[in-house]
Amino acid sequence: MNTTRRDFLQASAVAASLVGLGSATSRVMALPSNRRPAKKLKILILGGTRFLGPALVKSAQARGHEVTLFNRGRSNPHLFPDIEKLIGDRDPEKNDGLKALEGRTWDAVVDTSGYITRHARASAELLAEVVGQYVFISTISVYDESLQSGINEESPVGQLDDPSIEVITDGSFGPLKALCEQAVETALPGRSTIIRPGLIVGPLDTTYRYTYWPDRIARGGEVLAPGDGHDPVQIIDVRDLADFSIHCLEKGHTGVYNAVGPECRFTMAELVHGCKAVIGGCCTYTWVPGGFLIAQGVSEWTDMPVWVTSGGLSTVSNDRAREKGIRFRTYAVTAKDTFDWFSSLSEAMREKQRQQSSGISPDRESRILKAWFDSQ
Ligand SMILES: NC(=O)c1ccc[n+]([C@@H]2O[C@H](COP(=O)([O-])OP(=O)(O)OC[C@H]3O[C@@H](n4cnc5c(N)ncnc54)[C@H](OP(=O)(O)O)[C@@H]3O)[C@@H](O)[C@H]2O)c1
Repeated sequence: MNTTRRDFLQASAVAASLVGLGSATSRVMALPSNRRPAKKLKILILGGTRFLGPALVKSAQARGHEVTLFNRGRSNPHLFPDIEKLIGDRDPEKNDGLKALEGRTWDAVVDTSGYITRHARASAELLAEVVGQYVFISTISVYDESLQSGINEESPVGQLDDPSIEVITDGSFGPLKALCEQAVETALPGRSTIIRPGLIVGPLDTTYRYTYWPDRIARGGEVLAPGDGHDPVQIIDVRDLADFSIHCLEKGHTGVYNAVGPECRFTMAELVHGCKAVIGGCCTYTWVPGGFLIAQGVSEWTDMPVWVTSGGLSTVSNDRAREKGIRFRTYAVTAKDTFDWFSSLSEAMREKQRQQSSGISPDRESRILKAWFDSQ
């Protein structure tokens, strides 16, 4: 069944407000880039060259800080030719491990590449005496998966039967990140900042986990949309996450912060209608109830990206980060910039992303839509 007229009008109003110039322009900028920090910081990034890393480098440089990268030199080695790069491995037992960090000092470190407890402990213990603050990029996946709502930074985190495991799976990813957090805080008590993002989106995200929507909507035609449009969803623009991480260093904010946006409650309807509002094109939406989709084998999150109806991970509190100054650019900017970046890639690169597990193929979408219409 097509979107009803009332739903359409509601959603159009939402989309219009998303691109409303007054509110949009006043919130486009994240932290004020024209106000220089009082002190230029020397910042080490453990990582730096895939998705969040480049946004961190840009944010730090825009604020006048000096950046050093530490990584294996494999991912996008052409990036940042003017920045100091130290080559090594998070695993102290591989090649020269962390040796390149020895004998150096920094004001702060941002760790974007810690997934294994032993690796996080090694870098945190090595750097504890030579950095003032350690920002560890974690995830909201740390939270106990049985939690259904009301998740905040005090909520319990998932546990592993065997905390020494080093295999990352869907089940171990979150609890391992929680153990990394503990290792960092143990090495730098009171000097660690744990940032737990939700789904990170924006330019350079090659996972297609959000990009499916702008790409699909731009293609036009009848779009299969999950649920009734009212389900809450949360995302964070990679640039807002980067700006908040650097802000925490400048202000010396320590502790644990969920980094999920946008600022207020946001729904699946706002997400898709907001895309269309900034991309244009001719598509219509058919909202199909979750029960029907599940019966057809269509999964939330993977087949229908961003959409999560089970558990509490789409309504995580961002109060604490907002109190400390996290800013969210308007969703219209995120949607447009993501689409523009994706459109700038070669067809081969775009197709490679589409072939990943996120989103459903045009054929499958047509079959599900036909089954839905036939059932009415
Ligand atoms: N994407 C999401 O939606 C999402 C959601 C929640 C949380 N997060 C978290 O956000 C962070 C995002 O990371 P990102 O990949 O975008 O960061 P990034 O800093 O842009 O890229 C990862 C960096 O780590 C380096 N690296 C990987 N393995 C390494 C090793 N063994 N030793 C040394 N360096 C290594 C890579 O370079 P080389 O390959 O050259 O070594 C690369 O520079 C992660 O911590 C992730 O858990 C992501």
